[in-house]
Amino acid sequence: MTDLDSIRATLLAEAAAADSLDTIEAVRVKALGKQSGIAALMKTLGGMAPDERQRQAPLIQGLRTEVSDAIAARKVALEAAALDARLAAERVDMTLPVGTGAQGSIHPVSQVMDELAEIFADLGFAVATGPEIETDWHNFTALNIPESHPARAMHDTFYLREGQNAKQAGTADERETRTLLRTHTSPVQIRTMLSSSPPIRIIAPGRTYRSDSDATHTPMFHQVEGLVIDRGIHMGHLKWTLETFVRAYFERDDIVLRLRPSYFPFTEPSAEVDVGYTLDKGRRTIGGATPDGWMEILGSGMVHPKVIAACGLDPAEWQGFAFGCGIDRLAMLKYGMDDLRAFFDGDLRWLRHYGFAALDVPTLSGGVGA
Ligand code: PHE
Repeated sequence: MTDLDSIRATLLAEAAAADSLDTIEAVRVKALGKQSGIAALMKTLGGMAPDERQRQAPLIQGLRTEVSDAIAARKVALEAAALDARLAAERVDMTLPVGTGAQGSIHPVSQVMDELAEIFADLGFAVATGPEIETDWHNFTALNIPESHPARAMHDTFYLREGQNAKQAGTADERETRTLLRTHTSPVQIRTMLSSSPPIRIIAPGRTYRSDSDATHTPMFHQVEGLVIDRGIHMGHLKWTLETFVRAYFERDDIVLRLRPSYFPFTEPSAEVDVGYTLDKGRRTIGGATPDGWMEILGSGMVHPKVIAACGLDPAEWQGFAFGCGIDRLAMLKYGMDDLRAFFDGDLRWLRHYGFAALDVPTLSGGVGA
């Protein structure tokens, strides 16, 4: 047997025997590297007579190619086997129920929004939405808050308008169409009245923005708007709806509401609504037939005739009530958080503590806060 034949036999056997990607790589380095037998054979070509070299060179090159191809083929086979093994090991059976391995949780704000949708769906309310970037007209003017109105100052508005100071926008038209981050969900009242016809019964949960930040205020927060437009609607409908909603939400029948006369430009008359709480060893609990104190939870009133008219409806024919309520505050009162800022820190420990299991869908029969 020549040198070539024995090298060939040894290397091909080693390649065929390699049973892992690591071993085939070791075989490759040993067979084709600088210290290999083939490299040594290549070096002998230099010292050969020309006709000898002409005979030997193709043989040595042929050996190199043959071994190199065998190693590459073995490597491909081993890679395919490794992939098959991995696919088999990592197989996920999508038909299995979600197990204890589930990681995510539902944020309390999302949970409360789901609870609100559930409660109001039962009362015949649909869920409406509107853009977070609003026009001045939808957010203020159509809601009977004209340019000079002091209520504008109370809203700490974030204006959006490139290249100029939005507060000093030139013409009246420019002012109406300038954009801002909505300061409340009330513009959804306007959008709903413009895009549909009465009777209307909607809630509109969503993000709102004001330039304000402390333990109970964040620049982004959440509100839910309620709007009913129909014939013959009065404050009694408003009060019953709010009582029914608050009792369902806190899951207690002994909740007392107090309607305090108030002022909003877009409702007349207007009422702020307080919920009664009782004190137990210094702890406040929402509910109790004889409250120890009151906590404000929302603003409300009868939709102002000017707002109804601004949406192209006849206020002599259509009346309605509206309310707006802070969702984050509702969540804090029900689930016992005391700092609003932690809601939006994205801290996993907080989410694990206060979050809800993904499959706990609120239902009226199971309890919305389950
Ligand atoms: N938009 C008001 C606020 O943000 C709340 C409100 C809504 C009051 C609807 C009355 C009617 O304070």
